[in-house]
Amino acid sequence: MAENKLKIMCIVGARPNFMKIAPIMSEIKKRSDKLNAILVHTGQHYDELMSDAFFADLEIPKPDINLAVGSGSHAEQTAKIMLAFESVVLEQRPDWVIVVGDVNSTMACTLVCSKLAIKVAHVEAGLRSFDHSMPEEINRLVTDVLVDLLLTPSRDGDTNLLREGVSPEKIKFVGNVMIDTLYKYLPKARTSKILNTLNIIPFNYGVVTLHRPSNVDDKKVFQGILEALGTISGKLPLIFPIHPRTRERIKQFKLDRKMANYNIKLIEPLGYLDFLQLYSNSRMVLTDSGGVQEETTVLGIPCLTLRENTERPITIKQGTNRLLGTKRKKIEQEAFSILNQPIGEAKKLEFWDGRAAERIIDAIISTKN
Ligand code: UD1
Ligand code: UDP
Repeated sequence: MAENKLKIMCIVGARPNFMKIAPIMSEIKKRSDKLNAILVHTGQHYDELMSDAFFADLEIPKPDINLAVGSGSHAEQTAKIMLAFESVVLEQRPDWVIVVGDVNSTMACTLVCSKLAIKVAHVEAGLRSFDHSMPEEINRLVTDVLVDLLLTPSRDGDTNLLREGVSPEKIKFVGNVMIDTLYKYLPKARTSKILNTLNIIPFNYGVVTLHRPSNVDDKKVFQGILEALGTISGKLPLIFPIHPRTRERIKQFKLDRKMANYNIKLIEPLGYLDFLQLYSNSRMVLTDSGGVQEETTVLGIPCLTLRENTERPITIKQGTNRLLGTKRKKIEQEAFSILNQPIGEAKKLEFWDGRAAERIIDAIISTKN
């Protein structure tokens, strides 16, 4: 009977949340005799290509509740989510709430639940860039100090949490749930026509994604990165599916004309399957994305991370990631050196095996009240 089932509320808000929640929702469905899922979308991301496209590609059920908070300053967006989510959670009274990643929606929903004594599990707990100027690092720290169950994607997450004084019984290493989605949808991504549409040949192009405020909100930094990309594009054409924040900055800083001189194709953000097909056939990826550092590692695609730090050091130690910073010369040198190297190999990391969602749900079920 429904009332005997464990009621699990899953939260999504922004693009990188969808590929993390999809396998969790699917795992809950598999155990529907014992578990009941409620999906809440905060509406932090709302454009078709930043949100709805992922529900279709990843077969995520329509959200039961959409808080439709939209964009705003950090305080405004966080506060709007908290206000809207409080009444939802009071009405629904879930047994557990699952939050994923490090976006404002993750922290806002955690904060609400912790004041109402509703249990929260954080998927992707323990990652640290140790850079407090990064909004996500604040979200990670606040979330991890409050939640009841900390589900880590890699063992460095456990180490970070133990150092911060989190009790060991609250920490569980479950592996990387994004990779569940990658393995599940790779065969389907192979049917995408994106390479034909863009008229490109496998391994003869690079892929760029950029959206970190530290890179794109500062004109000087952004311009330096674009100049490096411009030079690289002289040898390797680049495809740049552009995040809405970044598109706005190009307009605001009047960089459109400069971009037009480069061999860089600016396109709309891609759905999951098209993007997977695109980067998995690329010569290299240049990015400041968190998730893309992990996905390229698993597929053996060289990843040049245009940041000073990463909360995902395992992708450097065991994967294909290189942390370059944002200085023009360094980016150009590394990109050219990769062009002279053979194509990379896929990497196998502990528990990045397509079964993280199973371990996540097992951990929640077995956590004592
Ligand atoms: C957010 C997350 C970031 C994550 C990124 C993934 C926080 C603090 N940041 O950053 O961690 O890596 O999502 O993509 O939670 N916009 C649109 N349409 C949309 C969404 C946003 O046009 O559907 C524009 C708006 O102008 C908005 C800006 O993009 O102000 C930034 O959106 P926001 O959600 O605040 O931050 P992101 O940069 O997307
Ligand atoms: N992604 C996508 N289309 C794009 C760019 C990225 O599907 O045009 C996917 C990417 O494969 C990964 C996720 O979005 O699964 C990463 O999201 P994003 O870079 O926005 O956020 P971050 O991981 O940096 O928080």
